[in-house]
Order: sequence, then structure tokens, then C-alpha cells
Amino acid sequence: MLRTIQGTPVPALGFGTWELVDDDTFPGVTAALELGYRHIDTAQDYGNEHTVGQAVTASGIDRDEIFLTTKIGNDNLTPEAIRSSTYESLSKLETDHVDLLMVHWPVRLDQLETNLEVFGDLVEAGAARHIGVCNFTPDHLTRALDAAPIFSLQVEHHAYLAQPRLLELCAENDLLFTAYSPLARGELLKDPAVVAIAEERGATPAQILLRWILDEDEHTAVIPKATARERIEENLGALDVELTEGDHDALTALDRGRRMVDPPFAPDWAR
Ligand SMILES: NC(=O)c1ccc[n+]([C@@H]2O[C@H](COP(=O)([O-])OP(=O)(O)OC[C@H]3O[C@@H](n4cnc5c(N)ncnc54)[C@H](OP(=O)(O)O)[C@@H]3O)[C@@H](O)[C@H]2O)c1
Repeated sequence: MLRTIQGTPVPALGFGTWELVDDDTFPGVTAALELGYRHIDTAQDYGNEHTVGQAVTASGIDRDEIFLTTKIGNDNLTPEAIRSSTYESLSKLETDHVDLLMVHWPVRLDQLETNLEVFGDLVEAGAARHIGVCNFTPDHLTRALDAAPIFSLQVEHHAYLAQPRLLELCAENDLLFTAYSPLARGELLKDPAVVAIAEERGATPAQILLRWILDEDEHTAVIPKATARERIEENLGALDVELTEGDHDALTALDRGRRMVDPPFAPDWAR
């Protein structure tokens, strides 16, 4: 399933790599690519760009067929460090460009516009195809949109955390809305409502949860992380699941504003 964002096709179901460390990264990314994933999400702070790059290279898949993303870590959010660390990331990823280069957290808002200008320079230089932001609130996103040609927002989103305003802003501005932690880091898999729908549809809870997000809007993408090949394959099966309107309503009703990722440097989410 492809999304078309600002004229660019993006695979809607990607592979997340946070906490996919050491020995698990190479086989995980390799399995994902073998099974058909063509969207891989990493970050400077995950410490695995090097291994992700090795797996992408070893796959032998044409680089142009893979939508590869990374994120600039909080410590690198100054103009000079954005530039230098991007090229370090490219070197680790064994590529001359990423498809999406993102601000990982809105921690340097004092110089957001200046920083986004550098992201724009990196696009011009060919080091990144598109610019994205992660963990931005509606106010932050509106400000970023005024400053730079933003392509994507990546935020936590799953059935326990609805994010209606951000979904709306992405649809209005033709941005990719990438839902991270789409399984609520595993918490939602045992929710009785999710388990019941999975049984009825002959699918698994993970497939139901991913499909629900993919059905929400034509701008959504999901990037579940899994370690075992069987689970990586299972998650891809979300593309074959069909949910009824009743299923959608039941999943939508699970919203409780519950966040799984909320580090001390996170913004005031209410704004
Ligand atoms: N931009 C940001 O600030 C940010 C923050 C968080 C995450 N992300 C991105 O989003 C990706 C996904 O989020 P996430 O890793 O936090 O959480 P997630 O994808 O919601 O859940 C991952 C957890 O679910 C388990 N799991 C996956 N598929 C499963 C299945 N089919 N059946 C049972 N269990 C399953 C995994 O276990 P195993 O690994 O043991 O299989 C892991 O414990 C990250 O990897 C990262 O790329 C971005």
C-alpha cells in the first residue's frame, strides 16, 4: 500500500527499529526487506544506523526502492551539528541520501526556524529528499509549516492515543502522518476488544491495530517494530485485513489519551 504525499509515493507500512539492538538489527532489517517492507525507520539515537545500513546494502535491493528515514538527535540540533551528523548518518547507513530526515524531538525551539533552514540546505545538497518532524504538538507543527517545506510528522499514535488534531493538520497540509508505537509498545495486543475483533476477522491483534490506523486517513503510515521474523511477517499481513465500520468504531472508542513514550524532555503535549 502506497501513500502519495506531495506527489511522492511512500510505503504505508514500514519497519521500526527502536530498541532493535546489536544482534537483532541485521536479521530484523534483512527479514523485513526479504518479506517486502520498503520503508525502514531509524534514528541517530537508536545506535543502529550502521547495522541498518549494512542490512540495506546486503539486501541487494535497489536503493531507490527503499524509503529510508533517520532522525537528528537532541544533542545535534544546532546548525553545525545537524550538517555534520547528517553526513555521519549517511556514512553509517551506507547511502548518499535518506528519504526523510527528521527532527527527533522539539527541544531546540529557540532556533527551530534556523535549524529547519539547515534541513532545507541538506535537501538542496541531495543528502535528504524530504524534511520531517517528530513529537511536535499542533502549535509546533503549525510553526514548522510556516518555516519549511515539511513532508511528514511522526508521532505516537494507536488506539489508546487518538491524536485527532494532528491527523487533521496532516490531511490539510498533505503531510505523511507516521504513527509510531502503533501497537502501544505491545500493551494493546491483549486488550479484550482488540482480541475479540481479531478472532472475528480471523486475524491477529497486531494486524487489527495496524489496519485500523491505515484505514483512518490516506495520509497515515505505521512503523511497527518486531524482532522475530514471524512477527515481522505477521505485521505485514495487516495489509490483507478488512475491518467493518463497527470494528473501526470499537477501536476508536478505546482512546484514553494514554502515552507510552513520554521522556523528561517531551513537550507540553496539550499545546
Ligand atoms: N520518533 C520517535 O520519537 C519514536 C518514538 C518511538 C518509536 N518510534 C519508531 O516507531 C517504531 C515502533 O514503535 P515501538 O517500537 O515503540 O512500538 P510498537 O511497534 O508499538 O511495539 C513494539 C513491541 O510490540 C511487540 N510486537 C511487535 N509485533 C508484534 C506481534 N505481531 N505480536 C506480538 N508482539 C509484537 C514487539 O516485540 P518484539 O520486538 O519482541 O517482537 C515490541 O515489544 C520504533 O521502532 C521506532 O522506529 C519513533
